Amino acid sequence: MPPSTQKQWVVTGKDKDFDGLVFQTDAPVSQVGEYEVMVKLHGASLNYRDLIIPKGLYPFPLDLPVVGGSDGAGEVIAVGPKVTKFSVGDKVVTLFNQGHQFGPVDVAASKTGLGGVLDGTLRQYGVFPEQGLVRAPQNLNHVEAATLTCAGLTSWNALYGLKPLKPGETVLVQGTGGVAIFGLQFAKAAGARVIATTSSAAKAEILKKLGADHVINYREDPNWGETARNLTPGKEGVDHVLEVAGAGTITQSLRAIKYEGVISIIGFLGGVEPKDSILEPLMRICTIRGVYVGPKSMMQDMIAAIEANDIHPVVDQRVFKLEEARQAYEYMWAKKHFGKVGIKIE
Ligand SMILES: NC(=O)c1ccc[n+]([C@@H]2O[C@H](COP(=O)([O-])OP(=O)(O)OC[C@H]3O[C@@H](n4cnc5c(N)ncnc54)[C@H](OP(=O)(O)O)[C@@H]3O)[C@@H](O)[C@H]2O)c1
Repeated sequence: MPPSTQKQWVVTGKDKDFDGLVFQTDAPVSQVGEYEVMVKLHGASLNYRDLIIPKGLYPFPLDLPVVGGSDGAGEVIAVGPKVTKFSVGDKVVTLFNQGHQFGPVDVAASKTGLGGVLDGTLRQYGVFPEQGLVRAPQNLNHVEAATLTCAGLTSWNALYGLKPLKPGETVLVQGTGGVAIFGLQFAKAAGARVIATTSSAAKAEILKKLGADHVINYREDPNWGETARNLTPGKEGVDHVLEVAGAGTITQSLRAIKYEGVISIIGFLGGVEPKDSILEPLMRICTIRGVYVGPKSMMQDMIAAIEANDIHPVVDQRVFKLEEARQAYEYMWAKKHFGKVGIKIE
C-alpha cells in the first residue's frame, strides 16, 4: 500500500524562474480510478522544456501549478478494476501527451502534456490513465527508461514519422543533448551514417565512441552545413537533419540538406527568429517539418527497436535525487550535461 502523502516538485509560476519550483513533502497521493494505474516512480529525466516552463519561455499549453516533469518510469503498484493492459509489477514509462495515442497530433491531445497541463513525474507516486503509460523496455533500468518519454520519442518521430529513414542514408544531429544523442543511436541502429556537431573537442571524442561517422566542431567551423554536405556520397547532402537550435543553425542545416531531404524542426536552443526565407524549402527542394514529440503507437515501435538493438540511452554521469531536482535544472541550464539528465526517485 502506498503512503497517504509523498514528496513532489510543483511548478508554481512562469515568472519566478527556478524559484517557481517548490518542493513539497506532504502532498497527497491520489486514489486509483476505474481505468487508472498507480506507478511507484523510480526514475525521471529532465528536458529543456522543463527548464523553460518556470522561465516563462514555453510556447505550448500549460495549466499551473503542476507537478513538474514529463519523463518517468517505475513499477505498477495498483490498478483500477477496469484496467486491462497492465498488472501489478509491470515496468512502465510515461507517454508525454497522454491523449496522443496514434496518428497526427490534434489540439485536444496537445493539451495533455505531463508536467505542463497534467501533473507530471517529479514525485514518488503517479496515477495515470492506462492509455498514458507504455510498457518499458526490458533491457533498461528505470532512469534509462524515463529518458524515452520526450527526447527519445521526438528523435524517433523525426526519423520515422514522415519519411522513414533507410539504411545507407545520412543523418545530421546537432550538439550532444538528449534529442541529438538519441538521433545518433537510432540512426546507427538503422544502418545509417551519422554526422554530428558539437562545440567541444572532448564531447567530439564521446560522439565518435557512440558511433558518429564524422564530427564537426560548429564553433571552429561556422560553415559546418557545407562541410557536412561535402562529407556525403556525391556531395549531395544529408537525408535528415534533427534541427534543435533553430535560428542559430537553420541556415547551415539548409546548406547540408539533400534534395527531398527532411529537416525536422525540434527546438530553438539558439534562438527563435531565423533569417532565412520561407521559400528556402523550394530552393533546396526539401521538407521542413515541425515535430511535437509523438504518439503512443510510435513509442511502442521505438521500444521494440531499443530492445532488439539493446540500445541504452546516454544518461549524464551525474544522476540527481528527487530532493535535488532544482540542482538538476540548474546543472542542465548551465549545459554541464551530456545526453540526458537523470533523476533517481526513492
Ligand atoms: N518539438 C519537440 O517535441 C521537442 C521534444 C524534445 C526537445 N525539444 C527541443 O529540442 C531542443 C533540444 O532538446 P534537448 O533536450 O536535446 O536539449 P539539451 O539536452 O539541453 O541540448 C543541449 C545541447 O545542445 C547543443 N546546443 C546548444 N545550443 C546550440 C547551438 N546554438 N547550436 C548547436 N548546438 C547547440 C549543445 O551541444 P554541445 O555542448 O555538444 O555543443 C548542448 O550541450 C530544445 O530546444 C528542446 O526544447 C523539442
